[in-house]
Amino acid sequence: MTLPPAGAVLAAFDVRVGDLGALADVLRRLSVAVGQVVGRFAGVGRLVEVTVAVGASLFDTRFGLGGHRPRGLVEMPVFPNDVLDPARCHGDLLLQVGAVDAATARSVVDELAGADLVPRWRVEGFRDENAVTEAGRASDRNLFGFREGAGNPDVRDEAEMDRLVWVGNGGGEPVWTAGGTYQVVRVIRFATALWDGESVGRQEAVFGRRKADGVPLSGEAESFDYRADPSGQLIALDAHIRRANPRTPETAGSRILRRGYSYRGGVDAAGRRDEGMLFVCFQQDVERGFATVQRRLAGEALDRYVLPVGGGYFFVLPGMSGSAGDYLGRALIDAAS
Ligand code: HEM
Repeated sequence: MTLPPAGAVLAAFDVRVGDLGALADVLRRLSVAVGQVVGRFAGVGRLVEVTVAVGASLFDTRFGLGGHRPRGLVEMPVFPNDVLDPARCHGDLLLQVGAVDAATARSVVDELAGADLVPRWRVEGFRDENAVTEAGRASDRNLFGFREGAGNPDVRDEAEMDRLVWVGNGGGEPVWTAGGTYQVVRVIRFATALWDGESVGRQEAVFGRRKADGVPLSGEAESFDYRADPSGQLIALDAHIRRANPRTPETAGSRILRRGYSYRGGVDAAGRRDEGMLFVCFQQDVERGFATVQRRLAGEALDRYVLPVGGGYFFVLPGMSGSAGDYLGRALIDAAS
């Protein structure tokens, strides 16, 4: 597999225009601009990845899109541990740009953002120890010092991706959504000072994995069954990985594809560092995926070290077919026209 880009910018915008025809123009302009910038970087041997996603607010009364909203695309609800800052939440449109570093991604976002888009919030992320594990999963070390990615579904397994990540035909979703996916973003602040004061043993119990190499506390094997550890002797019952994925047949459908970044945003008014994780995950059904996992995480051992402050629910527009006249979101616009 290819590595995820080491730098990324997530930028949310509201659309400034007022009717469906003008919205189609925005999407056309954006599609051309994305094609140009990706092509220009490819021409000099550099990879730039751009995804364009839409938020629930795009389906309000402005464009007459109400009847075409992806079923699960609602405004991201407030979960129990959240202290959401409205200035870092939601948006009509989300651009995710990945590049060799955050500075490059930033310049691409600036190029794509036209006068028809009003900036709402943006966060720059990085993956410092970006690597591929032996099992072919993308892995990075977060600002708590732990490796992430091991529990992800295998992106090379197309059947698994079709089951967990991509929206297909049927399933009650509007036809235009086929080939898209729900994207959840969570800006999660870390209480790094509190965390750094904990012993490594305590930190490992919080996640359920070893800090040095990410091996599960149940032993070397990546595949294990929590039924062999019913009272949490090896992996505590409130450990992050145990709550996030209990590995039972009943919870298999809630698996999600995580593609997070670290972020470092300076210090707040009280002099505390604003840093943590730009949690990003993709799934076929946001309720069955992220929301189910997030509800299971309520009360987990990690809660006291993290503070979700922003993000949103979005739907990644299906890719372009390559035929003349196609543009990102065309199937949606056509359905509503
Ligand atoms: C709050 C900050 C978070 C941190 C620091 C964090 C960190 C980690 C780490 C270190 C792992 C173990 C390595 C791995 O399996 O990839 C992990 C696994 C996982 N996390 Fe998180 N995570 C956070 C938030 C979340 C959230 C918000 C969700 C979803 C609602 C989530 C879902 C998962 C899942 C599904 C796994 C895989 C578990 C498995 O399959 O065994 N995490 N996370």
